Amino acid sequence: MKAIQIPHYGGADVLRFVDLDRPAPKDGEVLIQVKAASLNPVDSKIRNGYLKDIVPLPLPLVPGWEASGVVAESRLEGFKPGDEVVTRVPFQRGGAYAEYMIAGEGEIVAKPRELSFIVAATLPIVAGAAYTLLHKIANVKAGDRVFLLGAGGSVGLYAVQMAKALGATVIGTARGEDSSAARGFGIDQVVDYTTPGYLDAIRDIDLALDFVGGPAQEALMSVVRAKGLLLSTVNPPAADKAAAAGIRASFAMTTLDRNVMEKVLDMAARGEIRSRIGKVLPLDQAAEAHRLMDERAVGGKIVLEISMA
Ligand SMILES: NC(=O)c1ccc[n+]([C@@H]2O[C@H](COP(=O)([O-])OP(=O)(O)OC[C@H]3O[C@@H](n4cnc5c(N)ncnc54)[C@H](OP(=O)(O)O)[C@@H]3O)[C@@H](O)[C@H]2O)c1
Repeated sequence: MKAIQIPHYGGADVLRFVDLDRPAPKDGEVLIQVKAASLNPVDSKIRNGYLKDIVPLPLPLVPGWEASGVVAESRLEGFKPGDEVVTRVPFQRGGAYAEYMIAGEGEIVAKPRELSFIVAATLPIVAGAAYTLLHKIANVKAGDRVFLLGAGGSVGLYAVQMAKALGATVIGTARGEDSSAARGFGIDQVVDYTTPGYLDAIRDIDLALDFVGGPAQEALMSVVRAKGLLLSTVNPPAADKAAAAGIRASFAMTTLDRNVMEKVLDMAARGEIRSRIGKVLPLDQAAEAHRLMDERAVGGKIVLEISMA
């Protein structure tokens, strides 16, 4: 089968288009013929080797941690050949940038008929993250003031839609076309993070979600009300600074969760959340897709479409 490999850590150009043996499913696993594999910033972090101490992976490795496709072979109860599915697999396995991949129990759910393979492939990680933060960790309620650092990004745009549906007032950062996208998805107020003092007029935030990390995260602490909550998907907030600001703050790792996957796919199938697809490229252009992602040259999700020769 055709696949993409990371032979060694480095920039987008390390990605290789190769021929590999088709993987064989063991008991409790299915073989999926992949139709679409979605890119996420974490793919680049792994490719660069930034996460090698946290997520040690054997190289060479086939990247890709979420995909949609059709079951080709099943040794897992509840799935049969021909079923249309969506999968999110553990970092230790990957394998989605390929014509075929393996998924095990808890990593695979049925694809709703209303969703295309492209859209379905983009939902588990980013929409799953937004759902976990807003619904499972923060329990946002009507009237809450929610601030999103990175509202125009992939997790951000789902968080805008979900927080609005929960009745929150939603404010967030975005610039250029990302601002229009955030407005189109119902955000109440957009601030451009490249404008100096962009946080000055923001106050009394009940929940701040950080999709950026670093110094921007620290600045965010000033907008959160006393005893309010800051959650970051990027790096752990400094505990001493959070204590000094009188707020609660933590890092949130959204783990693989079949129920969350089903929930966000269902929300998308009902039209409760919409996706912003930026670019669809064929598998052999994975290096170009990574380059576009690294340079943030495309607004919206980048997806590899995989068609059999
Ligand atoms: N912990 C978890 O489980 C988990 C799950 C999902 C994602 N993540 C992480 O969460 C982060 C966001 O993911 P994503 O898929 O939403 O990425 P994304 O689509 O690249 O979005 C990031 C957004 O942040 C904006 N941004 C960059 N610098 C900024 C700054 N200084 N201030 C304000 N906004 C800024 C970018 O805007 P411009 O393009 O205009 O610069 C972009 O819109 C990534 O680091 C990802 O790895 C973690």
